[in-house]
Amino acid sequence: MQGELANKVIFLTGGAQGIGRECAIAYARAGATVVIADINLEAAQATLTNDLCGIGLALHCDVASSESVGAAIQHTLACYGRLDAIHNNAAISTPSKPLHETTSAQWDQIFAVNLKSVYHTTLHGIDALKASRGCILSTASMVGTLGQENHAAYVATKGALIALTKAMALDYAPYGIRVNAISPAAVWTPLLRQWVQEQPDPAATEDFLNDIHVLGFCPEGDVVADAAVFLLSDRARFITGVTLPVSGGAELGYRRLVTR
Ligand SMILES: NC(=O)c1ccc[n+]([C@@H]2O[C@H](COP(=O)([O-])OP(=O)(O)OC[C@H]3O[C@@H](n4cnc5c(N)ncnc54)[C@H](O)[C@@H]3O)[C@@H](O)[C@H]2O)c1
Repeated sequence: MQGELANKVIFLTGGAQGIGRECAIAYARAGATVVIADINLEAAQATLTNDLCGIGLALHCDVASSESVGAAIQHTLACYGRLDAIHNNAAISTPSKPLHETTSAQWDQIFAVNLKSVYHTTLHGIDALKASRGCILSTASMVGTLGQENHAAYVATKGALIALTKAMALDYAPYGIRVNAISPAAVWTPLLRQWVQEQPDPAATEDFLNDIHVLGFCPEGDVVADAAVFLLSDRARFITGVTLPVSGGAELGYRRLVTR
């Protein structure tokens, strides 16, 4: 196989749709074998069949469950005998609430899916990554740095993920393992469309999402996928512990209101 990720086996969580699906396509195009580990097996299988020519694996995996992640990684190793990268991408965004309106069960659920999942994939995958001197990549979010109103628990998971990326980069550097993250601002995916519908004025929220990016539009997931290929490739061989904004400049300074 030719390409920047030739002969690499990549374990990608939440790869059935949205940003993960775009990453799966870009990884395969770059020569990697992709394991789509997703709670929605039917959608994962459809992505594998329709977008990856059936090459790779689609596995049922609940990233909130250590047993489920362990089984999926064992299956991957049994099939391919190696693991070169883990991309922690699966996440949920509900609830869109301030902290005091977030239930205890919602807090636990979003932390399990968005953050403890990284513990699970690392716990079960680290030995294989040590053997391959591989990479860990996580999909964080610009809100983990900037904050966001009415989304307290989600913001907390993403802020923690950015901090965890640095801690893991330090711990695993001696094994040649690079650990990085990507921070999108907004990207049109089923998750974002669901969040828009939870807002008081969905139409105005859609305009807002286009306007927050100084480059002038809310992108699709391909922009994240291109950055992900780079961070997992040898061209990023001296980059670790960073959270790369792929945000169209959404976080840049004060702006005058402009009419486009
Ligand atoms: N879309 C955005 O605007 C945006 C912005 C910043 C960051 N992000 C981050 O990008 C990543 C992908 O988001 P998206 O918008 O593509 O989401 P999405 O909802 O479109 O896709 C998420 C995928 O994760 C899977 N998933 C959900 N819970 C799971 C679980 N417990 N175990 C395994 N798989 C599970 C879903 O089945 C789905 O395939 C997330 O980490 C999200 O926080 C998204």
